[in-house]
This record gives sequence, C-alpha cells and structure tokens, in this order.
Amino acid sequence: MSENIIYCYSGSGHCLNMAKSIASRLGDTDIVLMRSFPEKTDATEAKRVGFIFPCYGGGLPGHVEEYVRAVKIAPDAYKFAVEQFAGYMGCGLHKIDEIVGLDYWNLISNHSTCIWLMPHTLSLPRTTKEEAQARIDRKAMEVSAAVKAGKRSEKKPPKKKLFALEDKVFSQMHPKRVKKFWVNDACVGCGTCARICPRNNITLQDKRPTFGTDCIGCLSCVQFCPKEAINVGKTTEKRERFPNPSVKAMDLTKKVIHID
Ligand SMILES: Cc1cc2nc3c(=O)[nH]c(=O)nc-3n(C[C@H](O)[C@H](O)[C@H](O)COP(=O)(O)O)c2cc1C
Repeated sequence: MSENIIYCYSGSGHCLNMAKSIASRLGDTDIVLMRSFPEKTDATEAKRVGFIFPCYGGGLPGHVEEYVRAVKIAPDAYKFAVEQFAGYMGCGLHKIDEIVGLDYWNLISNHSTCIWLMPHTLSLPRTTKEEAQARIDRKAMEVSAAVKAGKRSEKKPPKKKLFALEDKVFSQMHPKRVKKFWVNDACVGCGTCARICPRNNITLQDKRPTFGTDCIGCLSCVQFCPKEAINVGKTTEKRERFPNPSVKAMDLTKKVIHID
C-alpha cells in the first residue's frame, strides 16, 4: 500500500495533470481515477488521502459523490482536496468535506473545458494556455508543500446552496444533451472515443461512433478526439479543444497510476 492516495476525477486531463504533479512531489502515491467506480476504496493504510476534481455544473462531476462515500480512510489520516473551476467553485468541496472531513483544501481557476457552453479562452482573468498550465504547476507546488507540512485550513469550504440546486439540474440534463452529439467527416473511426468513455456509452458501428444515453457529460470524447470530429450541437465545431497537453487520452482509461 502506498503512503499517499489521491482520488482524482478528470474529463480533459487538467485535474489529472495536477494530481500527477502533486504526487511526484509527495512521492509514493497511488492516483486512483474516479471516472468509474474506483479500483481501490480501502485507503485505511494511507497516511494522506487527497481528492482532486473539477467543478462541473456547480457540483461534483459524474458519480464522484457516490464514489467518495465508498472510500474507507483511517481516522488519523490527513485528508486534503483541490478543486479546479472556471468561474465559480460551486458546492463540490463542501460535499467532499461533509463526507470525509477535510484537514486542508485549496482551489484553482482554469480555462473552461465545457466548450458547448463557452469557448475555453473566455477565462477570467484572461490567460493563455501556457499561463493556465503555469498556474496549475504553481498551485501543485503550493499544495504539496502544505500537505507535506500537515497544514490545516482555518475555514470549512463554503456551503453554496444555490449551486447544489444547479448541480441537481445539470446532472439530469446529460441524457438529453447526448442526443446532440454528432460526428463530422473528419472521423477516421480510430475508436479513441469508445475507449476513453468512462460509461462505455460509445460504440463504433461501421467505424462511426454512436452514442447511448448513459452520459455523464465529461466531454472527454470531444476534447481528446484526435481529429476533433465529435461535436455537441452546432457550437463546438468552431471551438478550439483544450485537453491538458501533458495528458494522453489513454491515461484517463487507467484505474490506478502509481508515482514513486
Ligand atoms: C461539463 C462541464 C461542466 C463544467 N461546469 C463548470 C461550472 O459549473 N463552474 C465552473 O466554474 N467551471 C465549470 N467547468 C470547467 C471545469 O471545472 C474546468 O475546465 C476544469 O479545469 C476541468 O478539469 P478537467 O480537465 O480535469 O476535467 C465545467 C467543465 C465541464 C466539462
């Protein structure tokens, strides 16, 4: 069993990139992906347990809340969390804190990968992709130093009741929105989308992806398609993708990534 476990959800790789960066500074860390039910839920031997995830629709992405509830942590373990968001933090950190009781938490704003809603460049404050990455690197350094020192946050993450409502509504919209997914002629039938989908919701028929209704709206298929052929409605065809440049599509399909 590793000394540290980081539970991480990531749709476009930015949170995974940050988790790897923190893990490499902590050493001896298992990063357990939460895109589907986590491979390891028994974390009772870990000294430090972390949670790194984005804000999606004002709340936690996918089934993260359910997965975090399944994780078993030793009573004396140090628990920390980092949330990435584009414009507002929502209620995700509060929910994680309610479940596990965080010792330390932190936040970082990034570009929005929700490109059916807005272009990722509409970040506030405006930053280039390179600056956004530099911010992730700086925050990873800050968090790992705090975690190593056993720092404790003075305040609890704020509750944000309104976002709990947004979270509820947003998660109910995925099955409807998936009907808007379509593929343009650039598709070469490589199957990356089918392999990367955390719900096995994409199947190839005659080398063309078809989409079922079990979608959690992670947009990994849209962001990581090597031909940028997958679209949601009319807006995304003109919008630049922004998967994390250091994360490969297949990294997201791993269940556990160990970092020494
Ligand atoms: C489906 C979806 C919903 C999102 N909802 C929010 C939101 O409600 N508020 C916000 O500030 N950012 C939102 N974002 C932006 C992400 O939190 C941000 O881009 C994050 O860096 C993505 O991390 P990832 O690459 O690890 O998935 C959303 C992104 C996606 C894909």
